[in-house]
Amino acid sequence: MKTDRMKTALLGTAAFAGFALGGAASASPSVPPTPEMISFACAGCHGTSGASAGLTMPTLASHSKASIVDAMKKFKTGERPSTVMGRLAKGYSDADFAAMGDFFSRQKFHPTHQVVDAAKVKRGADIEEANCSRCHLDQGKEGKDDTPVMASQWLEYLKMQAALYDSGARKMSKDMADKWNRLSKEDREALLHFYASVK
Ligand code: HEC
Ligand code: HEC
Repeated sequence: MKTDRMKTALLGTAAFAGFALGGAASASPSVPPTPEMISFACAGCHGTSGASAGLTMPTLASHSKASIVDAMKKFKTGERPSTVMGRLAKGYSDADFAAMGDFFSRQKFHPTHQVVDAAKVKRGADIEEANCSRCHLDQGKEGKDDTPVMASQWLEYLKMQAALYDSGARKMSKDMADKWNRLSKEDREALLHFYASVK
């Protein structure tokens, strides 16, 4: 009886160790980790269902698989600047990125409630269609190909990314740059308030 319990406890510890290693778990050929298991390593910052709690951590729920895989690859090579994601992405393979993309793209869109400036939201709404809607579909609610979901994204996070684009540290596609660079700083900020407000 006692031995059985000890055995169970030991097995539990072993399973937990494998689980906690996350990326390393894929080294075991007999038990391939599920997308849920791999994505558990992301939950501390991005929430268990992709609804991030921290203002500088993007919400990932309902992003397209391609946009998550693309972001993870760019974090890993350093092409996209980051505070933590670069170091983290290095521990994972392309197959892991695909599993993470599967998991977060299956999570339901997560509306956020945040403080936005009403005048800026209105300004953003007026210019969004002509400038951004070709790629950021349905007011940013739908991620197409490698385009991330923008609707309800944390404003703080969006501002940080805008600053990285403006400094040239984060590269944008030529087609996005054509629109982005023609707008004033105020208009760009208005667009971020608009997207953050969409539910
Ligand atoms: C310690 C907190 C933390 C953990 C853990 C974490 N992230 Fe992140 N994530 C961030 C932050 C902060 C950013 C913004 C980029 C940066 O500064 O690193 C980010 C950005 C991202 C983005 C870019 C989203 C966009 O809209 O462009 C993706 C995709 C992402 N993380 C996926 C993941 C996945 C998958 C995992 C699990 C393997 C994970 N993250 C674990 C904090 C974290
Ligand atoms: C030609 C398509 C296209 C157009 C037009 C476009 N974008 Fe993007 N946008 C993208 C893609 C693709 C990404 C992700 C690529 C990357 O930076 O790695 C992106 C990413 C972003 C991000 C970062 C989001 C995140 O989760 O990190 C912001 C902010 C953004 N776009 C704002 C805008 C605004 C504002 C407009 C309108 C002025 C606009 N975009 C127009 C394709 C486009």
